[in-house]
Amino acid sequence: MYGMVNRSVEDMVKSAHGEAMWLEIKRRAGVTEDIFISNAGYPDEITYKLVGAASEVMQIPADKILHAFGEHWVLNTARKGYGPMMAMGGANLPQFLENLPAFHDRVALLYPNLIPPRFAVSDRAERSLRLHYYTERPGLTPFVEGLIHGLGKMFETAVQVTLQENRGTGHDHDVFLVAW
Ligand code: HEM
Repeated sequence: MYGMVNRSVEDMVKSAHGEAMWLEIKRRAGVTEDIFISNAGYPDEITYKLVGAASEVMQIPADKILHAFGEHWVLNTARKGYGPMMAMGGANLPQFLENLPAFHDRVALLYPNLIPPRFAVSDRAERSLRLHYYTERPGLTPFVEGLIHGLGKMFETAVQVTLQENRGTGHDHDVFLVAW
């Protein structure tokens, strides 16, 4: 994944727990990079190791860390670093979700080696829809839940997210019922 992802993990840890905690997590993860370069590519394994080490060091389950990271990504990294791109995503939560399938097409113009997630929307109702999430990467379901909660906070819209189908239990993708 592009270095910006690892940088964002770093930013989340440091802003809540300080530099020493981050250095301990990197040490535990066996990561030797002094800094991550946003637009350079790194093996996915590094990101997974950082999340695993953060879970051990902070004694917080990895799914909770991924959830928090999803919120942090939207509310800090994306909103502050990519404001205009986020604004183009939609003017409110349902609009943003409906535009999500095309979102990373724009990201890929900036980062051509992106291996993006794929999203689809179905069953649009007045106050809910079903969001389908496809990826080759394992274990990121709680990250996506955190991302959606982050979008809810960004639009100041109370949101409920229910995982209806799960890649972990044999489906080929995750399906979330998102209600607002
Ligand atoms: C301007 C804002 C955004 C940027 C710059 C961005 C960029 C990226 C980058 C660089 C990756 C790593 C993939 C790679 O390097 O190959 C990624 C992954 C991902 N992004 Fe975004 N993203 C943004 C917003 C969003 C939003 C709003 C969502 C959903 C609500 C989202 C969902 C995901 C997911 C789920 C992944 C994990 C990859 C996977 O599932 O395989 N992103 N994004």
